[in-house]
Amino acid sequence: MKKQILSGIQPSGILTLGNYLGALRNWVKIQDDENYDCKFFVADLHAITVSQDPETLRNNIKSIIMQYLACGLDAEKNTIFIQSHVHEHAELGWLLNNYTYMGELSRMTQFKDKSKKQENVKVGLFDYPVLMAADILLYSADFVPVGQDQKQHIEITRDIAQRFNSLYKKEIFKIPEPFITANTAKIMSLQEPTKKMSKSDENKEATIFLLDSREVITKKIKKAVTDSENVVRYSDDKPGIKNLINIYSAVTDKTVAEIEEEFKDSGYGKFKQAVADAVADLLEPIQAKYAELALPENDEYIKEICKKGAAVAHEIASKKLKEVQEAIGYRTI
Ligand code: TRP
Repeated sequence: MKKQILSGIQPSGILTLGNYLGALRNWVKIQDDENYDCKFFVADLHAITVSQDPETLRNNIKSIIMQYLACGLDAEKNTIFIQSHVHEHAELGWLLNNYTYMGELSRMTQFKDKSKKQENVKVGLFDYPVLMAADILLYSADFVPVGQDQKQHIEITRDIAQRFNSLYKKEIFKIPEPFITANTAKIMSLQEPTKKMSKSDENKEATIFLLDSREVITKKIKKAVTDSENVVRYSDDKPGIKNLINIYSAVTDKTVAEIEEEFKDSGYGKFKQAVADAVADLLEPIQAKYAELALPENDEYIKEICKKGAAVAHEIASKKLKEVQEAIGYRTI
């Protein structure tokens, strides 16, 4: 039996170098592993937990699908779909609301952070981990590849699943585990290197986006915050240089020791140029593929992938939803 893998990304624009090195690149690797059956979706129902303009949302949903494909996710090897195309997500989300406590949702650190920054905090933002639990439990995922910031949401998913199973004395839900790949570098902001690189950072200089041109990448890396020592040395008290070494290492597969040796006689200028070149070379083929997918003649192809993916997902999700409904006491007449 293959292990089930599921993950998703919210459609909030162009992904970052951090998303690629920390997530997508690993997804592309596991799609060729015989031991796994993978599903990757666009979490567009999650997106409306903050205000969205319809035109922007439409474009962002399609763009994430294209970014998935451009990064090398293969629609023949994985199920790729859009969350809102599979109505069972919202339906199971509602049901699970009634097996989740206000108290446990109030403890979610992501909610606490996000709600602090907003005025009219939506119920959906508060409830978001329950929808995420529904996403995961519908497909009996064994492993959910996520970043550190989502671990708490996997834990609440496990709690809800266990609670439901023991209440109805039946193994209805598989208990998922987070899948945090070893030695994936955490990519930090170029401007505040103690903070994670984020696609929603207000300072655009802080983030490298997958579709940034070579010139923009070079400019951002040249401006990256470092220190005055001018020695390429990996150390916690040099967070800016540490981050650039991590990026260079992730992109080139060189070890930290090899990198320190390579740049032992060069200052930051030369090192930064090398990092910028390596990142731009890495992203170039992804950008070419994205540009090709964006041609109007490929619209149908993209739609077909989403349609096929949703059909596969719906098939599985509808069976799980039915089991849940029966356990609760529905579907008898
Ligand atoms: N909450 C995730 C994020 O913002 C996205 C997401 C939604 C997700 N549902 C999921 C990730 C299910 C993994 C599994 O990054």
